[in-house]
Amino acid sequence: MSTDPLFVPLQLGALSLPNRIVMPALTRMRAGPGGVPLPISAEYYAQRATAGLIITEATAISVNGHGYPQMPGIYSPEQVAGWRAVTEAVHARGGRIVLQIVHHGRWSHSTYNPDGSLPVAPSAIAAPGLAYTPAFQQEPYETPHALDTLEISEIVVSFWSAARNALDAGFDGVEIHGANGFLLDQFLQDGSNHRTDEYGGSIENRTRLLLEVVDAITDVIGADRTAVRLSPHGNLGGLHDSDTVLHFTHVIRELGQRKLAYLHLIEPRASSAGYGDDASVDSANNAALFRHAFDGPMITAGGYNPGTAVQVLESGLADAVAFGRMFIANPDLPERIRENAVLNPFDRATAYAGDAHGLTDYPALTAVQHRGSQTGAGLADLAST
Ligand SMILES: Cc1cc2nc3c(=O)[nH]c(=O)nc-3n(C[C@H](O)[C@H](O)[C@H](O)COP(=O)(O)O)c2cc1C
Repeated sequence: MSTDPLFVPLQLGALSLPNRIVMPALTRMRAGPGGVPLPISAEYYAQRATAGLIITEATAISVNGHGYPQMPGIYSPEQVAGWRAVTEAVHARGGRIVLQIVHHGRWSHSTYNPDGSLPVAPSAIAAPGLAYTPAFQQEPYETPHALDTLEISEIVVSFWSAARNALDAGFDGVEIHGANGFLLDQFLQDGSNHRTDEYGGSIENRTRLLLEVVDAITDVIGADRTAVRLSPHGNLGGLHDSDTVLHFTHVIRELGQRKLAYLHLIEPRASSAGYGDDASVDSANNAALFRHAFDGPMITAGGYNPGTAVQVLESGLADAVAFGRMFIANPDLPERIRENAVLNPFDRATAYAGDAHGLTDYPALTAVQHRGSQTGAGLADLAST
């Protein structure tokens, strides 16, 4: 099988990608105090600069937007300076990098809020399960405070300000995190949004906050540097919707009218948001269901290997493919794919938190391996990583 289709250059809005192999957002929980990215993050991302595009780990737009320990932010000057070191390191290696921005909403805990206030959400409905506190303790999710309309407008301003800070920090654009059960997704899906005002009820109303955020951000950085990530059929954070295909078709059509840099869809297969390996969990194919509804470039993610990635590109259902766990484990993933080389296996134990181990010490191919890879035993092994 030829992997050449993955190496055809691609234009995503203002972003010129030399290949279609994207590093998606990957939370690593290794920011310093105050949510400031550390120099080791610059090294980690720069190692992966041969990706067609790097999307950073989910980054909080405001002090009460956090929901995981040691998660970075983009609302203080120190955070902007920390991220500037990252973007400079990636650009110095010839890469492109956008910032994924998020508000966790109900998927958080009051211990993240300096004033101890409750997490916020569209409605006062607690997420199922246990939260990680900043001290890595596990506590039940609290019943969140339902945002009033003034507070919703403050959320929009926080997203706007985060996007402006992202440009100050040297990012090439932003990806708005509307996926995986966080605040914007909580508004989109009617399992978590029981509001009766203009932000709830009809799908037009539930889409309102996402579109207000998109419009505010495109005003400040341009639509061609703005992107959105969605996860229809995803149930992370206990989300569900009464008619996913109908409702997300509306959301995606609206986004298509805004001429965004790209739309990034996560496939639900393999445990709700593409994280696991149990393909029986959900067989909906979001690329097939929603490609027609979006007028613009699309990235697909969730359980791809180079072979299935080529297939999805050739089918026209996506323009680029994101590889999550493979990019954690293989800093030189495009090169390995091109050379049909063996991949380093992903180590789940070092995915979240900790030090350089599992972050910057996955090895790149050596010169000897490069020569060895010409015999090409690699791609057949990929599905097991
Ligand atoms: C350790 C880890 C952290 C992740 N963090 C994020 C995140 O911050 N934001 C996001 O949108 N998705 C996140 N994801 C989902 C990935 O972006 C991707 O969609 C998922 O891993 C499926 O792709 P894969 O099968 O190629 O790994 C994370 C996945 C993993 C494994």
